[in-house]
Amino acid sequence: MPILTDTFNRPLRDLRISLTDRCNFRCTYCMPRELFGAEHFFLPGNELLDFDEIERVSRIAAGLGVTKLRLTGGEPLLRRNIDVLISRLATVNGIDDICLTTNGSLLTAKRARELKAAGLNRVTLSLDAIDDRRFKAINDVGFPTSKVLEAIDNATGGGLSPVKVNCVIQRGVNDDQILPMAEAFRHTEVVLRFIEYMDVGATNGWRLDDVVSAREIMDTIRTRHAITRQPATQPGETANRWRYDDGAGEIGIIASVSMPFCGGCTRARLSAIGELYTCLFGLRGHDLRTSLRSGATDADLATLLGSIWNIRDDRYSERRSEETTHRHAGFNSRVEMSYIGG
Ligand code: GTP
Ligand code: 5AD
Ligand code: SF4
Ligand code: SF4
Repeated sequence: MPILTDTFNRPLRDLRISLTDRCNFRCTYCMPRELFGAEHFFLPGNELLDFDEIERVSRIAAGLGVTKLRLTGGEPLLRRNIDVLISRLATVNGIDDICLTTNGSLLTAKRARELKAAGLNRVTLSLDAIDDRRFKAINDVGFPTSKVLEAIDNATGGGLSPVKVNCVIQRGVNDDQILPMAEAFRHTEVVLRFIEYMDVGATNGWRLDDVVSAREIMDTIRTRHAITRQPATQPGETANRWRYDDGAGEIGIIASVSMPFCGGCTRARLSAIGELYTCLFGLRGHDLRTSLRSGATDADLATLLGSIWNIRDDRYSERRSEETTHRHAGFNSRVEMSYIGG
């Protein structure tokens, strides 16, 4: 079978699967409390794809070229029996990497071992500040830094490595945490990655002025440490990789605002209810669930997936940076980050 590509000749390699739109944090830039409060409508359980359906989509996607699965949320560890799902995904032919992005709040040492045993390869945890008061204010549920550091140790101890830590930097919110975060993970196996704050969704009131660019972040690191750029390990990688010259380890930066990487974007995203988004900034997804639940054969589903990917022309981040007159108000009906999992 010829390899599936989109209109820019990009293959489909990664499938990011959102397992729930719920999260036990209320990070101010992702699920602001005012908008994700008691009256917010979360998806009811029966709307979610079940494990059979998720496995089936993964299998079909693998048949079309997908080799990597990433489980996301909301908070994916809120999904019951996730280890059962992982053990099923681990049997899918062609998948060689299964990863999970989590806030770490539910990642005990026991859980980490169970996930590893089920077939999870590695985890990425989010931590936006080392300073405890600051982190509690950002997650807005008073969750302490120390507990995330414990979860990071649990992940490392459980063999879910290389463990990565994502840190989204916002100007005036946590830009003073760049150096303390870097210090905390120097001389460890953990790969810290700073992320430029992105204009995903419509609820976080994003402004270009809030973005601290990769350049600024790296210049801040360089005030203290010499670093050298590393070659990419895979095409279409999100992070630019750097190493400390003194051997203290690796650090990365995800510069999707100042240096977009759409050219090599091989990612599709499956929402918890089975919509396929071909871009993080998609306005709407393509419904797969109706086909899954109305007797479509595997061949029908492969054709559907293939036809969605074939006409894909998304390059949102590149377009945004080209559009110097861009105003946020014109882009206000995009999918939310907590819904599609980043
Ligand atoms: P690795 O496999 O470890 O390289 O992980 P990853 O970087 O693909 O995934 P992760 O969930 O850690 O994502 C890190 C950050 O990059 C998040 O803020 C994502 O939203 C962002 N990101 C991931 N994929 C894309 C993408 O396709 N486009 C854009 N603009 N941002 C992305
Ligand atoms: N910009 C950049 N990264 C974000 N994340 C959530 N919202 C944003 C945003 N607006 C990050 C989370 C998590 C990853 C999956 O996406 O912090 O680490
Ligand atoms: Fe925070 Fe991640 Fe939950 Fe969003 S999904 S509120 S970034 S922990
Ligand atoms: Fe891919 Fe869209 Fe992100 Fe560009 S903006 S890298 S096309 S998901």
